[in-house]
Amino acid sequence: MDRQPPQDRDIRAEILHLRAEVVRHNDLYHRRAEPEISDAEFDALERRLRRLEADHPDLAPGESPAGRPGADSDARFPSAPHSRPMLSLANSYESDEVVAFVDRARRSLDVDDLRFTVEPKMDGVAVAVRYRDGCLVRGLTRGDGAQGDVITANVATLCQIPGELTAGWRGLLPAGTDAWEARGEAYLGLERFRQVNAEREAEGLAALANPRNATAGTLKTLDSDEVRRRGLSVCFYEFLLLDDEDRPLDGGFDDHRQELALIRRLGLPVNDFLREASTVEEIQSCLDELESLRAGLDYQIDGAVIKVDERQWQEALGSTAKAPRWGLAFKFAAEEAVTTLREITLQVGRTGVITPVAELEPVLLAGTTVSRATLHNWEEMERKDIRVGDRVVVVKGGDIIPKVLRVLVDERSGDEEPQPRPSTCPVCDEPTHQVEGEVALRCGNPLCPAVVAGRLRHFAGREACDIDGLGGRSIELFLAEELVRTPADLFRLDPAVVAELPGWGEKSAARLQSGLNQAPVRPWAAKIFALGIPQVGVSTARTLATYHRDLEALLAADPDALAELPDLGPIVGAAVHGFLHGPGAALLEDLRTVGFFLDHEDAPAPVDETREGWFAGKTVVLTGTLESMGRAEAKGLIEGQGGKITGSVSKRTDAVVAGEKAGSKLAKAEELGVEVLDEAAFLERLASGGDGAS
Ligand code: IVH
Repeated sequence: MDRQPPQDRDIRAEILHLRAEVVRHNDLYHRRAEPEISDAEFDALERRLRRLEADHPDLAPGESPAGRPGADSDARFPSAPHSRPMLSLANSYESDEVVAFVDRARRSLDVDDLRFTVEPKMDGVAVAVRYRDGCLVRGLTRGDGAQGDVITANVATLCQIPGELTAGWRGLLPAGTDAWEARGEAYLGLERFRQVNAEREAEGLAALANPRNATAGTLKTLDSDEVRRRGLSVCFYEFLLLDDEDRPLDGGFDDHRQELALIRRLGLPVNDFLREASTVEEIQSCLDELESLRAGLDYQIDGAVIKVDERQWQEALGSTAKAPRWGLAFKFAAEEAVTTLREITLQVGRTGVITPVAELEPVLLAGTTVSRATLHNWEEMERKDIRVGDRVVVVKGGDIIPKVLRVLVDERSGDEEPQPRPSTCPVCDEPTHQVEGEVALRCGNPLCPAVVAGRLRHFAGREACDIDGLGGRSIELFLAEELVRTPADLFRLDPAVVAELPGWGEKSAARLQSGLNQAPVRPWAAKIFALGIPQVGVSTARTLATYHRDLEALLAADPDALAELPDLGPIVGAAVHGFLHGPGAALLEDLRTVGFFLDHEDAPAPVDETREGWFAGKTVVLTGTLESMGRAEAKGLIEGQGGKITGSVSKRTDAVVAGEKAGSKLAKAEELGVEVLDEAAFLERLASGGDGAS
C-alpha cells in the first residue's frame, strides 16, 4: 500500500510524468527528428523536473533523464566511441542568466579581466570529423554523447569537408602529431532547403518540415549519393588534437579565436561571425547584433554561444558530466510574425484525429513563407480564444511547425467568429467523439476516406515501406479512381491501368511497380511500423521485430508477453495485441494474400535463452565506460551468449556490468543487492562460457 501523503504522491507522480516526457521528447528530437514541442518548451519541462527532483530527492529515487544529452543513435549504422564525450551546453533565455554565468566564471577563477567570445549557435546536427595523416578517416554523429554513429561515407560527400588536406597541414599542428578532430554542426542552408522542397513538390513528395530535421534525416540516409544531392553545409567550432590511439591531447591553440583560425587554415569552414567581449554589456551588444542579423542569414540559428576565450581558463573551469562550465548557450526567442487568420480548416489523420488548422494570410517567418499553422485541438483553441478573422501572432514551435501563439485581442473589430467543435467528421459526416482522457476529437469511421488515405500514406512512407514513386498525390488519385482502399490493394494495381492515369506514363508506372516489389523485402521492423498499430512508433516496431521474428511469432505473443518487452509496458502491449487480433486482423490477412510477409523475416537475432554462456537468459545492465571495449561491443557479446540488456536496474536485473565512472545505476544495484561485475569480472564471465562459473 502507498503510505505517502497525498501531496507527496502528487509530486512523485509529476516527477515520474516529467521524466517520461523528457525521455519521449528527447527521442522525438534526437532519434526521430520529429519534435512535437519547441526547445524553449522542452527546457521548461526539464527545468521543472530538475527543481522538483532537487526539492524532493527522496520522492523519486533513481536516475533522472534531466540534462542528459538525448541519443540520436540509429541501429542501421555501426557505432564508435568519441575521443572525448560530446557534451551539451547550458541554456539561458534571460540576460540575468548571462550575468550569472560571467560572475560565476570570474569568481571561480578569481580573474577580473576574463575575455569571452560570442558566436552563432547553429541550429543543425552535431558532427565530428577525424583526420589522420592528412586524410578524413571518420565521421561520427553525437549519438548518446559517449558513442556516435559512424557516418563517414555520408560526411565525405559534403563538399566543404575535404577527403584529403592540402599540403602544408602538418606545419599547422604541434610537432610529432598528425591526428585531429573537428566538431561542428551540419545544416541545410535555407535557399537549398527551399530548392529541395520545390523539387519534392514537383515530384509529388511531401515537403520536408524544416531544415534541421531534413539535415538529421539526410545524415542518416544509407545512400551516400542521395546525401551528396541534398547539398548540406557544415561549420566547425571545436578542435581536438589526438594521439595515436585517438585520445585527446593538449595543444594546437591558446584561445578560441586561434582554435577557429586553425580549423579554417586546415581547410574546414568556420562561421564568419565571431566577436570578443570583456564585459556583460559588451556581450549583450554582441547578442543584440547577432539577433539583428538573424533574419537575413541563409541558415537557422537558435541563439548565440558565449565562451570563455582562453584555453587555460576553459581548462581551469572544466565541465560537469553534461556541459562545459566555460560555455553558455543564449537562446533567442522563437521568431514571431503577425498575420490574419482567414479560415479554420479541419484535417483528419490516419487514426481519425481531427486537427483544426489555421489558414493564414501568407507571412515571412524564420526564412520560410507561412500560410498554415496548427491549432492542435479545440481545448487549446478555446483556451486561446482563437476566432476566424483574428490578427494572430505565429511562431515556429522550436522553429518547427508553425503555430498560433496568441490573438491580438485589441485589434478585434467584433466581426471575428469562433469556430464551433464539429459534431460530424468534415470528410465522411459520421459523428465525432472524444475518447475519455484524450483532448483530441475523433472520427470513428474506419472507412472514412481521410483515414483510409492517411493509412496508405503511412504504409508507403519513408520509415515504413518507403515505396518509391508513391507520394500523397498519387494516393489521392488512386483513391479517387477507386483503384485502392487498403494497403494490400496497392500490390494489386495493374501497371497498365496506372500508366493511363493523368500525369502517369509507362515509366512512372514501372517505377512504382518496382517500388512495390521492394516492399516485402523491407526490414521486418519497418513492415511492423507500416501496419500503423496504435502506439507503435519506429522504435517500438524495432523492439517487436527483435523479439518476434516473423508474423506468426508476433501473432502468437499474448498481451503479457508483449508488455514484458523492453520499453513496451501493459498499455502498449494491450494496444498491439488488441490491434493484431481485432481491427488489424483483416489487414494482416489481406497483406498475407498479396505476399507482403516473408516466412522468415530479417530481424536481428532475439535473445536466445537456451544458448550456452554465463549470460544466457540473464538480464544485464551496462553502466560506466569499459576500457577494453565500447558499449555496443559489450552489448553484442552479452546478447551473443543469449543475455538481454535493459536500461534500468530493478530487482529483476541479474547483473550490472559497471565500468569506470559508473554512477547511479551502480548505487541502485548495490542498494538492491544485484550482482555487480567490474570489468575484470565481466571479461572472466564472458570467457567462462557455459560452465556456469560464477
Ligand atoms: S560549442 C561542449 N559552439 O549546440 C559543447 N556548440 O546545445 C561545446 N552548437 O552540442 C559546443 N553551434 O551541437 C558550440 N558555435 C557553437 C555551436 C554549438 C551549435 C551545438 C552543438 C552543441 C549544442 C549544445
